[in-house]
Amino acid sequence: MVDQKIADALNEQIGHEFYSQHLYLAMAAYFDLMELKGFGHWMRIQAAEEAGHAMKVFEFLLDLDAEVRLNGVKPVPAKWKDTVHVFEDALAHEQKVTEFINGIYELALKESHAAAVFLQWFVTEQVEEEATARELLHKAMIAQESKAGLLFLDSELAKRK
Ligand SMILES: [Fe+2]
Ligand SMILES: [Fe+2]
Repeated sequence: MVDQKIADALNEQIGHEFYSQHLYLAMAAYFDLMELKGFGHWMRIQAAEEAGHAMKVFEFLLDLDAEVRLNGVKPVPAKWKDTVHVFEDALAHEQKVTEFINGIYELALKESHAAAVFLQWFVTEQVEEEATARELLHKAMIAQESKAGLLFLDSELAKRK
């Protein structure tokens, strides 16, 4: 049986990942309503990736024979001032998730080798998530200077698979 503190922290992380899913879905809806469908598409894929993260932790807990607790997702924002503000929020959110992951990882180093190894994937993933959010924030800042630039970025983001 896995350490209870680890199980609790992993259950909390499931909540954070589903919150991320909802946040990116809200961003997808916001972009779609602005007719920035490429941005909307990109955010839908990001949301699906976040649900995947939640499920990774879900399955890991069950493999450890630990209880899964789903506590619901608190409301996410629905509106942003502009594209730049969306990506500012996305980056700030990912930085927070990185802190959560680092916290559980530190606990796991003391309490559970299995959880520490499992969490290494998330530590690496957060580097990627922050890098992507930072890149898109900078691109959105550049695109803010011209509508053509924004539409170009929209067609680029429509290509995400
Ligand atoms: Fe995630
Ligand atoms: Fe990712």
